[in-house]
Amino acid sequence: MSQFKNSTIYQIYTKSFHDSGAKGIGDIKGVTEKLDYLQDLGIDYIWMTPFFKSPQNDNGYDVADYLSIEPMFGTMEDVEELIKEADKRHIGLMFDMVFNHTSTQHEWFQRALQGEKEYMDYYIFKDGEADMPPTNWESKFGGNAWEYVPHLKKWYLHLFDVTQADLNWDNPKVREELKEVIRFWKKKGVKGFRFDVVNLISKPEQFENDDLGDGRRFYTDGPNIHGYLKELVGDTGIADMVTVGEMSSTSLENCVRYANPEERELSMVFNFHHLKVDYKDGNKWEIMEPDYAALKNLYEVWQCGMQEKKAWNALFWCNHDQPRAVSRFGDDQNYWKESAKMLATMIHMMRGTPYVFQGEELGMTNANYEEISDYQDVESTNYYDIMRADGKSNEEALEVLKKRSRDNGRTPMQWNTGENAGFTKGKPWLRIPENYVFVNVESEQKDADSILQYYKTLISLRKKYDIIAKGEIEFLYREHPDLFAYIRTLKGQKLLVLNNLKGKQVELAEALHLEGYQMLLSNYEQEDKKGQITSLREYESIVLLKNNDK
Ligand code: GLC
Repeated sequence: MSQFKNSTIYQIYTKSFHDSGAKGIGDIKGVTEKLDYLQDLGIDYIWMTPFFKSPQNDNGYDVADYLSIEPMFGTMEDVEELIKEADKRHIGLMFDMVFNHTSTQHEWFQRALQGEKEYMDYYIFKDGEADMPPTNWESKFGGNAWEYVPHLKKWYLHLFDVTQADLNWDNPKVREELKEVIRFWKKKGVKGFRFDVVNLISKPEQFENDDLGDGRRFYTDGPNIHGYLKELVGDTGIADMVTVGEMSSTSLENCVRYANPEERELSMVFNFHHLKVDYKDGNKWEIMEPDYAALKNLYEVWQCGMQEKKAWNALFWCNHDQPRAVSRFGDDQNYWKESAKMLATMIHMMRGTPYVFQGEELGMTNANYEEISDYQDVESTNYYDIMRADGKSNEEALEVLKKRSRDNGRTPMQWNTGENAGFTKGKPWLRIPENYVFVNVESEQKDADSILQYYKTLISLRKKYDIIAKGEIEFLYREHPDLFAYIRTLKGQKLLVLNNLKGKQVELAEALHLEGYQMLLSNYEQEDKKGQITSLREYESIVLLKNNDK
């Protein structure tokens, strides 16, 4: 079995994990200092968000040099030390490769700006008049996706911030440069890679206006995407390492290829359809309550669709671009513990490799900022301005950010009840939510019933029971509005997982008899079950195992 199938991957947002000094910013040494914590949690790999040289306009996703370290995060020696220390603890490091674009500060782009033909071909430059962008495509961070360079009389494409210029993957030299980056880090002992928005790298031959949308249909899962991935993975010899691609607005049809071992593209993929069920009319900046029926349906379609084609999923709720799951799909006020544990159970027992985003294992919540000045993220501040220009009041725009800002997931890791939650001895770069006094590592380590202990159990169950990694999945109570349930099977063994998605008790139409089942895990005491389940309490989760019928 591929090793990553019974693994759990932990995501570190480097800037917010742990500051080894007093800069107010998390750093690489800070990660090394916390490796014992991660080993104790039981995780196998760490995906670290980019700490490469960067002007930090998009917190490191604007890379100015893939082979050197941004000084505020540390040095190359720090990285080598981290890899070595992680290795001692049997933890592999996965680095984040941002290959769709570079920072405009990257030497390649700077030389392109000087008019060097060779480097202009590294990017996507188009001729045009200053008042007429080549297409009407929109940047994912707001505004038109093209920027004019007056002295060149050309526009360049940036699907993200204006300081993130899209690379031209159709140029073989670009592909070779990026392979060198992979080889460099592989040699340093990195065990895997995460590829940022990698399904956007293959642009269409013709650039035309999109009359139906923002342009994404032309470049998402673009014409040469599978070929480019195979080439990158094949030529760098990473097909047997752990790799995950971030797939923006992708399709199941493409993902079964990206993540099918026979295709030798990637180990697994992130898709985001399940994280749009609270976007009104698909618009992230219009708030809506989560549509749980849609959520259930999406999980079922993706789990079964990927299984059918033997492709592998990445399972996740949270990352550095998402609000906190417990605030979003659970109830961080009345059922904080119960709902955080239920959400964890839901994904950790499905078919795929689970990701834990720093602080998720503590039940960290959204930031609840009251002022625009508390926000740092470029997407949030851009959209605040757009919402204000569209007529929303300051209060209305802030309400949207409270729910949708990426900064919700980026607040510093809460280590203890001390100053700055133990994150830094200086002034944190992003404000720490007030609830750190009880949502923190130290307090949860002392509490046997904490969310942290529950995550430890979930992670260890995956190691203990093969069925969690290998079992087939089938969904139950498919039409039920509140229950999310499935059964995993492996050689006559059964794993039954029941989750109440809501903060109200749910009655089952028929009692579920428990003969032969062993209770593996629950977020409630279970003494009263008396051989059958007739209802589930608020956000209750139950995991049951039945061995071979003899
Ligand atoms: C990905 C990253 C996000 C970044 C964007 C552009 O979506 O996860 O943080 O802003 O790509 O690189």
